[in-house]
Amino acid sequence: MIYIGSDHAGLNLKESIKTYLKSNNVECLDVSLNVTDSACDYPDIALKLCNVLTKNIDSVGILVCGTGVGMAIAANKIKGIRAVCASDSFSVKYSRLHNNANVLCLGGRVIGNGLGLELVDIFLNTQFEGGRHIKRLDKIKNLEC
Ligand code: RB5
Repeated sequence: MIYIGSDHAGLNLKESIKTYLKSNNVECLDVSLNVTDSACDYPDIALKLCNVLTKNIDSVGILVCGTGVGMAIAANKIKGIRAVCASDSFSVKYSRLHNNANVLCLGGRVIGNGLGLELVDIFLNTQFEGGRHIKRLDKIKNLEC
């Protein structure tokens, strides 16, 4: 399953991603409040999405805020979450290949919808390479409090 969430600043890009996934028959579950004003705090959405994700180990998440940065900082506080905040395809691709990233954080005020959808595509269609990267991820796991 793909979980998706945004605050008010990420709402438009998140809606475009949902439409795109739906048009490709890819199911996703929206955990956001869908408010357009600043009543919505991104750490609450990040926590909600990551809590569901850690209970569904094969799932991935997409979080959108203004920059993607706040969502990534919040998400990476949660055990088992490897969130990447990126605006370029190389970083997104390698976050999957080498880091087995399970949450993609995007900035609705940073990138356009076209790039956003392309990054989502790369994220969802690139698999973890395993091999020498496993022991590095184990070392990251050991850093978790
Ligand atoms: C909200 O104004 C904004 O701070 C938030 O969407 C995000 O960019 C935080 O990192």
